[in-house]
Amino acid sequence: MDGPDISVDLCGVLMENPVILASGVLGETGPSLLEALEGGAGAVVTKSIGPSPREGHPNPTVVTLGDSLLNAMGLPNPGMEAYAEELEWLGRGSEAPVFASVFGASPDEYAEVAARLAPLVDGIELNLSCPHAKGLGAEMGGDPAMLEQVVRAVVDTTNLPVLAKLTPNTGDIGALASAAERGGASGLVAVNTLQGMVVDVEMAAPALANSYGGLSGDALRPVGVRCVHEIAGMTSLPVVGVGGISNHIHALEYIMAGATAVQVGTAIRTDGPQLLGRIATDLRDWLVDHDHSSLADVRGILVGGGHR
Ligand SMILES: Cc1cc2nc3c(=O)[nH]c(=O)nc-3n(C[C@H](O)[C@H](O)[C@H](O)COP(=O)(O)O)c2cc1C
Repeated sequence: MDGPDISVDLCGVLMENPVILASGVLGETGPSLLEALEGGAGAVVTKSIGPSPREGHPNPTVVTLGDSLLNAMGLPNPGMEAYAEELEWLGRGSEAPVFASVFGASPDEYAEVAARLAPLVDGIELNLSCPHAKGLGAEMGGDPAMLEQVVRAVVDTTNLPVLAKLTPNTGDIGALASAAERGGASGLVAVNTLQGMVVDVEMAAPALANSYGGLSGDALRPVGVRCVHEIAGMTSLPVVGVGGISNHIHALEYIMAGATAVQVGTAIRTDGPQLLGRIATDLRDWLVDHDHSSLADVRGILVGGGHR
């Protein structure tokens, strides 16, 4: 395509543009992944998949807060066997790369799911960061030693790139990034949702059935950008930025802070999957307007910059 180069090599996975569908928003079926690809995504990430079917939490599971969202879905998914059929439907011939998001209750379970889905995808993203599922996600990925074990177990079972998706619910995301690097991760994804609670005052009850949920959307963006900036400055691994992106300016914040690529979740619920392609087009136009020939001209320009 003419104009500035916005293609990306993410851990050896080639993408025409850096805008990726985030896990859990769409991505529950093959057709919904295809919708995101047809909407112009550079790549897509599946809903997080575990070894066996799981119902998730009872309703209400979502509270809307303006341009932000609090959710406690509880990792509902059909299990790896049923989901493999969705990926087979999508076909290995799909135009853009597909990453499988996986979770388990132990390093072995993560490895089992990754091994089952690996032949059907281009990369593995490890959900080490969901903040609302007992014993899973952030409860494992918040502990650097456990995180390292999970990453190593998966890296040992597949030749695909393995990206560790980190939680912002920690005082030291750098320690989590270092643990992922020691475990052999090819890349990092930051961030998953930030734990929060909304109260329905008239009912004198939590608004979510699970009481606590994960904050995503607009309000999460400064947290995500800060986390990406911090870990991009301390590891040589590529970092994917996610949290509160709904336009190309938001994507550029992450890219200048050090992100190789970005993911978009919550904003798709209101703007639809075409938003993914629109952000990519607007990114290219922005580069033209600012006399840049490639996204590489602005990537990471703030990394290493001082902070107080
Ligand atoms: C409804 C919903 C479901 C989600 N499900 C998952 C999931 O299954 N696995 C995962 O790693 N992240 C999941 N996430 C987190 C997103 O992938 C993303 O990290 C987060 O929402 C921040 O990005 P955003 O502000 O663009 O939504 C989910 C988020 C939402 C809103």
